[in-house]
Amino acid sequence: MRLNLKVWRQTGPTAAGKLESYVADHVSPDMSFLEMLDVVNEGLVKSGKDAIAFDSDCREGICGMCSLVVNGVPHGPDRGTTVCQLHMRKFRDGETITIEPWRAKAFPVVKDLVVDRSAFDRIIAAGGYVSINCGGAPDGNAIPISKEVSDLAMDSAACIGCGACVAACKNASAHLFMSAKISHLALLPQGEVERSARVLAMINQADAEGFGSCSNEGECEAVCPKEIPISNIARMTREYVKALLGAGE
Ligand code: SF4
Ligand code: FES
Repeated sequence: MRLNLKVWRQTGPTAAGKLESYVADHVSPDMSFLEMLDVVNEGLVKSGKDAIAFDSDCREGICGMCSLVVNGVPHGPDRGTTVCQLHMRKFRDGETITIEPWRAKAFPVVKDLVVDRSAFDRIIAAGGYVSINCGGAPDGNAIPISKEVSDLAMDSAACIGCGACVAACKNASAHLFMSAKISHLALLPQGEVERSARVLAMINQADAEGFGSCSNEGECEAVCPKEIPISNIARMTREYVKALLGAGE
């Protein structure tokens, strides 16, 4: 395959960026999207040019590092898939592909396609944890939890913190991300102790970081590679109201 790429290039956080054109030649349909970019970068480096900066780590859909907006869609056209698991067979030979970074005030561009997502870390540090001293690992059946509840909690825990939900949202809201973390802990007895403090602290931190609010667009759910449902946002709102009223203690 031969593809025409339009890639966002930006030398640093305060520099003006722009889309630059490249040709990706001899691309195998079996390559992943990031492998295709690796090939383009090899060509750039061989010709003495600056490689395109982009984030990745596991390349297995687990770590949440990859973060490209492909043709206007965070993680690209394949539903429920991270961009590292997107394959070139999803594109047509000769197609033009536009590649941009996550765009949100709270995710400033570091370079090219790399953004700073440490705002998510600060939201987790504000409350996305359980601090009870539980000693050694308890026996698996010591705390009975129904299959229905454990499944719901595990589905929420599937969030990989990639930030695609923020990038897709016109409000740059972090609600889907936060609601996944809050649901995961609110559903389980281990999360009960800090239940009220957690939701208040995480939402306050998100506001301080500059994330927007939720207006129920559903874009976050549509692009989430782990298919986290927006019903979690409803649960987070209930948790928030209960905490504000002091009823969640
Ligand atoms: S909710 Fe989905 S899109 Fe948002 S950070 Fe988690 S995995 Fe990524
Ligand atoms: S590189 Fe780890 S999820 Fe894509």
